[in-house]
Amino acid sequence: MKEETDFKMIAKTIFGLEEVLSTELQRLGARNVEVLNRAVSFTGDKGFMYKANLCLRTALRILVPIETFKVSDEKSLYEGIQSINWENYLDVTDTLAIDTVLSSDLFTHSQYLSQKAKDAIVDQFRAKHGERPSVDLDNPTLRIHLHVFADTCTVAFDSSGESLHKRGYRDKTNLAPLNEVLAAGMILLSGWDKRSTFIDPMCGSGTLLIEAAMIANNIPPGYYREEYGFEKWKKFMAFDQELFNMIFDSAINKITNHEQKIIGCDISRNVAKKAKENVKLAKVDDIVTIQTCAMQDMEVPAGRGVVVMNPPYGERMVKDNIEELYKSIGDTFKKNFSGFDCWVISSNMEAFKHVGLRPSRKIALFNGPLECRFMKYEMYQGTKKTHKLEGRAENGERN
Ligand SMILES: C[S@@+](CC[C@H](N)C(=O)[O-])C[C@H]1O[C@@H](n2cnc3c(N)ncnc32)[C@H](O)[C@@H]1O
Repeated sequence: MKEETDFKMIAKTIFGLEEVLSTELQRLGARNVEVLNRAVSFTGDKGFMYKANLCLRTALRILVPIETFKVSDEKSLYEGIQSINWENYLDVTDTLAIDTVLSSDLFTHSQYLSQKAKDAIVDQFRAKHGERPSVDLDNPTLRIHLHVFADTCTVAFDSSGESLHKRGYRDKTNLAPLNEVLAAGMILLSGWDKRSTFIDPMCGSGTLLIEAAMIANNIPPGYYREEYGFEKWKKFMAFDQELFNMIFDSAINKITNHEQKIIGCDISRNVAKKAKENVKLAKVDDIVTIQTCAMQDMEVPAGRGVVVMNPPYGERMVKDNIEELYKSIGDTFKKNFSGFDCWVISSNMEAFKHVGLRPSRKIALFNGPLECRFMKYEMYQGTKKTHKLEGRAENGERN
């Protein structure tokens, strides 16, 4: 593989964000963009690989496939891995880690396959040199990704290292915040124009607010991140610090300084305090403000805007209370958010019914293992629409 020319890469993402990621890739200048399941493939050169890691908001990691072979059992996997000349990629003094993703009936344990593949690599080195590279699961020189789909094994190198949702702006002590990649994807799916008011009325640790502020001002999602996997690469696509600096500087030069209204709110004093700290850590406290009160009592600026919110799903709540909460969300949209497109993500389909408004869009997304719907409720401004809505309300709908 020649470094200067284009090569194939695979950006992995969350189910439901493939199209958003594909659009991001096209805008960034990727070639041969193709949507896959929870992933998008594309081609580009080494500089584009750096750019993709730095700038893509909805990618979890960027993989570079190097080899594909057929497998039928553990032995054929071992042989397939051994048929690769690992000296092209690793030195004996280097460290490695192997992650395996399995979608095949031929195997049961992904960890066992990682182990077998590791044995194949180190055995090859030991036979030639009497020494072998060691394993470092946290911070390896080379992170190897195996994808076994039916009877085909693809070996790829993970250029990202730690998952790209770890932006580096967040204090680690928060409880169950939204994944940053999902938050960014929800904002991009909402079609927010980046200039009208953006509100998360149940902001928790502030993920949606911070991602919105970064989107609004072109702050690359990798701006705060300290390291990428490709920075450790030596034999394979050796890290080019100068090229990376050039790409980083060019992305930073595109940061704008628009005065935005990005507003959050949380009913819990402690949570709101934490959100304010996170907003400060992300250096977007000049455009993000946070109110400490119930959503129902929030001060909402007049005019148009977008609400994106992630209310409690009710796993730890009494059924009546969660239904009451969702009813109150619908009532508050009606009362205080006219002119807003209001988007709500939840895994609780029953609770959604209590919002009492007719969604104009429903998008399937996963929040971790939870299958969710991301619903859009359009809250019209003006009397004509209100009359129409009131007419509908008599038929049991509130929008
Ligand atoms: C699932 S969490 C949101 C997590 C957030 N998206 C994040 O990334 O950290 C829901 C939040 O809603 C808040 N909350 C619950 N009821 C509320 C209400 N009536 N008004 C405002 N906030 C409320 C809770 O305190 C909690 O922080």
